[in-house]
Amino acid sequence: MTGRRRDGAADPRPGGTRAAPSTVVRRAAGGRVSMRVAVVGAGRMAAVRTRALADVEGVEICGAASRRPERARAFAARWDAGFSTDRYQELATTAPDAVLVEAPHRVQDEVVRWALESGLHVLVGGCLAADLPAAREVRRLAAARRLVVEAGYEARYKEVWHRAAELVGEGAVGEVLCVQSTALVDQDPASWYYDEAASGGMIATHLSYAFLNPLRWLFGMPSTVAAVTNRKVRTHPGAVAHETCVATLTFAGDVLCTATAGYVKPTALSAWSVRILGSAGALDMMPGDDDPGHLLHYPRRGGPRAHTFDHNTAFHAQARAFVGAVRGHESVANPPEDAILDLHLCQLIADSAARGGIPLRTGP
Ligand SMILES: NC(=O)c1ccc[n+]([C@@H]2O[C@H](COP(=O)([O-])OP(=O)(O)OC[C@H]3O[C@@H](n4cnc5c(N)ncnc54)[C@H](OP(=O)(O)O)[C@@H]3O)[C@@H](O)[C@H]2O)c1
Repeated sequence: MTGRRRDGAADPRPGGTRAAPSTVVRRAAGGRVSMRVAVVGAGRMAAVRTRALADVEGVEICGAASRRPERARAFAARWDAGFSTDRYQELATTAPDAVLVEAPHRVQDEVVRWALESGLHVLVGGCLAADLPAAREVRRLAAARRLVVEAGYEARYKEVWHRAAELVGEGAVGEVLCVQSTALVDQDPASWYYDEAASGGMIATHLSYAFLNPLRWLFGMPSTVAAVTNRKVRTHPGAVAHETCVATLTFAGDVLCTATAGYVKPTALSAWSVRILGSAGALDMMPGDDDPGHLLHYPRRGGPRAHTFDHNTAFHAQARAFVGAVRGHESVANPPEDAILDLHLCQLIADSAARGGIPLRTGP
């Protein structure tokens, strides 16, 4: 078990991304270090993450862009940002230090590229990019310009995942034998999430988040991947190619894993869980999405012990880490050199599915 600091904050193994000291942002009146953040997108997650950023001391929301100008205007007004636009490039006139990108993933790719070429740090709301080639470009640009980029996987900042990591790390389940995860959502077929081109597909959009990314954080990069997928309910042209996916992964130490994810489920069915079975116990995690989640630890004998959490602090912790990295004194948990591995896995999962589910090695 590596990758965690004693204070519980995520400690990204690949070294994290800190801004070059010269990019640490200006001082506002009163001596506070101020940072101006522009927001692209005005949907559900833009509101969640803008709240988290605005709560970090010294952060100002300087502008908002959205496809529909009236939505951009309303969003900007909510955060006292003096500028709104339906052309995100115009956000440059607000002199931002960083951009929060909360848009469909193909749009996100375009916006992130623009932001990095404009010398701006980027907090990405979702996966690093819609696909592997776009992720490589993000990694290249961020490294070349020494800019902070953080992908949106907030699980690495979430208490329930940290508690699971602690329990596994201290041997509370013995030696880990296998992991079983399920992440089904009742996805709106009219949304961009269901659109293969706009989203980059269900595997990148959804399976990478729930739960490839946090499982990789717990167990490292898997050595093999195999997957089968189908598409039965929404088969209209342009709908995601892989509607439901069952992937099999092997992690170091002969840890076996099956990960099921998909866009079809009855609304009321609860299907968002991770079970970790060990030689001397088990964890049943309900990692939550907006909510804090909880977990049950089953020791070898006796009843389960519940671990509950009062609030979901992950988005705020991630926002603080991002701002800290831009200011040059913190690291982020999902820098491009690490978050690209999720897209690498997504590509292998799709490749395996295309070849009838054969196992593929992930490579060094
Ligand atoms: N827990 C999590 O971390 C979590 C959960 C769910 C989703 N996500 C991620 O969060 C991100 C945003 O998802 P969401 O659910 O908030 O999406 P959403 O509610 O559908 O909002 C998308 C926003 O993008 C805007 N947009 C679309 N095309 C645009 C363009 N060409 N230029 C500028 N803006 C454009 C839309 O504008 P209009 O409103 O003006 O039409 C809308 O405001 C995605 O990356 C997603 O994967 C993360």
